[in-house]
Amino acid sequence: MNKGKKQSITHHSLDGTHHPSPITHHSLDRTQNTEHVDAHIDHPNGVVWHPGQVSHGDRCHLLGQKGIVLWLTGLSGSGKSTIAVETERRLIEMGKLCYRLDGDNLRHGLNNDLGFSPEERKENIRRVAEVAALFADAGLITLVSFIAPYRDMRRFARERIGADRFIEIYVKATVEACKKRDPKGLYKMAESGVIEQFTGVNAPYELPENPDVILDTESMSLEQCVRLVLQTIRDHIELTGE
Ligand code: ADX
Repeated sequence: MNKGKKQSITHHSLDGTHHPSPITHHSLDRTQNTEHVDAHIDHPNGVVWHPGQVSHGDRCHLLGQKGIVLWLTGLSGSGKSTIAVETERRLIEMGKLCYRLDGDNLRHGLNNDLGFSPEERKENIRRVAEVAALFADAGLITLVSFIAPYRDMRRFARERIGADRFIEIYVKATVEACKKRDPKGLYKMAESGVIEQFTGVNAPYELPENPDVILDTESMSLEQCVRLVLQTIRDHIELTGE
């Protein structure tokens, strides 16, 4: 690293305008080293947390953004992944570091040992909540698109990630609309009994009680949804002022 040297980074604002802001390698803030992950300090098996010397604030300062999690919950076919993909593309274009954690994709790797029973879905959400907490702590704008059908799972995710870094977005569409769209043919398979425990058909989806944002994909266009997500990020980042 260029120790002590000045570095000029062009930061792009969320609305796409570019403004260069000189960033000096700031001294690390040793007083701010209270990351959310420190919550496991009292581990029952005598495992002791090993603190680092770089804080969440240091990483956010380096990246010129704030690490947050936007959790898109909703039925299969409601539009979660489509909205997340387009939002991610736009954020990267604006110079904001973003990463997408998609339910289908994580089930190809980290969660490929899990099915769709209530217990397995709970474990699925527990793992992605832990990963999202780390990504947000690393300073990334993290888009999670998982059905997460149970309220207590979503509450767990909010608590684990930290309420100040967690935004719940309900991607709203009726089961009937999702069945009509059926982009992967899964509803048809669920109704004919080929797939069991399919959310909205023969497994529950508990409606979010108090989501931070609702994207009604039956009445809003993709562009309108993405703009609202970007505005939400902008508001959140400005509100917390990091
Ligand atoms: S969650 O309920 O555990 O949060 P997750 O978001 O990881 O679900 O995965 C949902 C995706 O898995 C759906 O978009 C769909 O493509 C696929 N899938 C396969 N079987 C099922 C099922 N029984 N219920 C819901 N989704 C299923």
